[in-house]
Amino acid sequence: MRYESRGSVPPKRHTAFRDNGTLLTEEVMGFEGFSGNESIVYHLESPCRVMALGEFEPIVREEWVPDAHSHHLIDTRQVEPEGDPIRGRRLLMWNSDVEIAICRPTLGQEYFYRNGEGDEVLFVHRGQGVLETTFGTLPYRAHDYIVIPRGTTYRFVANADDELFLTFHTPGEIETPNRYRNRYGQLLEHAPYSHRDFHPPAGLVTHRERGEFDLVVRVRDGYQTYKLDYHPLDVVGWDGYVYPYTFSIDDFEPITGRIHMPPPVHQTFQGPNFVICSFCPRMLDWDENAVPIPYNHSNLQSEEMIYYVDGQFGSRKGVDVGSVTLHPSGLPHGPQPGLAEKSLGMRHTDELAVMCDTFAPLRLTTLAQELDDGKYALSWYENADAPATNGGPAGVTSHV
Ligand SMILES: [Fe+2]
Repeated sequence: MRYESRGSVPPKRHTAFRDNGTLLTEEVMGFEGFSGNESIVYHLESPCRVMALGEFEPIVREEWVPDAHSHHLIDTRQVEPEGDPIRGRRLLMWNSDVEIAICRPTLGQEYFYRNGEGDEVLFVHRGQGVLETTFGTLPYRAHDYIVIPRGTTYRFVANADDELFLTFHTPGEIETPNRYRNRYGQLLEHAPYSHRDFHPPAGLVTHRERGEFDLVVRVRDGYQTYKLDYHPLDVVGWDGYVYPYTFSIDDFEPITGRIHMPPPVHQTFQGPNFVICSFCPRMLDWDENAVPIPYNHSNLQSEEMIYYVDGQFGSRKGVDVGSVTLHPSGLPHGPQPGLAEKSLGMRHTDELAVMCDTFAPLRLTTLAQELDDGKYALSWYENADAPATNGGPAGVTSHV
C-alpha cells in the first residue's frame, strides 16, 4: 500500500495535538512490532477506554472428516441467509493459515466490530454499501474485494438486500506479491493492477456522540464484547500505510500468452502459505496448436479452492455460479473427459472466479458436508455421466 492521510494530523509525530482545546489521544497501529507498516491515529477518547466487559463467545467449528479422500463440489447457493455481516459468516473450510466462509446476511450490524487476531478479505459477490471505519467511509459494491487489516474498527451499512460475500480470515497479513513491486514498493508496469485500482476510505467522519456502544472484538478464537460510552469512530485524523481498501476484480488485468499461462499469473493477494487469485474474462491462448484448457496437474503441496462468480459454466458438469470446487493435495486433477478436445480453438472465456490455494490441507465443516454433491470425485470416470457439451468455455478454462 502507499501512504495515505485523512482528516487532520500534526506536522510532527508524537507532539501535542488538540481539538477545541482537548489533547487528542495518539494511537500507533503497527505490524511486526514497530518494524512493519503502521498508521498513526488521533482519537478524541482513549481507545483503551471501556465502560464494561461483556460476554465472550468462543468460535465453534464443526468438522466433517469425509470417509474417503477425494475432490469435492460444493453448492453454496443452498446456504440459508442468516445473521449479520460478521456473525453470519458460515465457515466452509479452514486451516491454521486461512478460514473461508460464505455470508448471506439478513440483519444489519448493530454493533461495531474489530478483528483483533487477523486480516480479512471479503469478496462482494452481490451487494453494495459502505463500511464505516476508523479510517473513514469505504464504499463497496459487487465484485469488490474489501481488504480490512486487523485493528480496524468497522460497521457495515448495506444499501442492498440479498448481499452475498465470500470471506477470508487469516492470522497473517494480506498483501500483494513482491514480484509486482519495485524496490520502492511502487507497482510495476507488468503487474495486473495499478495504484489507481486500489481505493482507500473516501472521507473521514469524526463521531463525537456519547451514549452506549457495543464493540465486538475477535480475539483468542472468539468474540469479546465491550461496552463503550463513546462512539468508537472518534478519529480526527490519521496517516500511514495501514488502512482498509477496495479493489474490484473487474480491474484485474489478465495476463495471457500464446500458450497456456500458469495460475500464478492470476494471483491477486497473498497471506501466509496461501494465495488468492482472480480468474477474469480474457483472451485464451492463441497458438494454433494451443490447448487452452489447463493440463492435468499435481501441484504437490497445494489445495485448490475455487468459487465461481459469473460466466456460462454449462460445459463444466455440475458447476454453476455459487459453486465451489476443492481439489485437495495428494491427488492430480485436470479436465474432465472430453474437455481438452472441446477446448481446442477456443479464443475467449467469460468466466469470473476467485481461487484460494493453500499449502496446508484444508479441513471441511459439516456445512460443506451438507452442500457437497457427493459425486464429483467420480466425474473423471469414463463411464460416468459425460460433461455437458453445450455452453461456453467458462469453467472449462479456469484453473480446474
Ligand atoms: Fe488446479
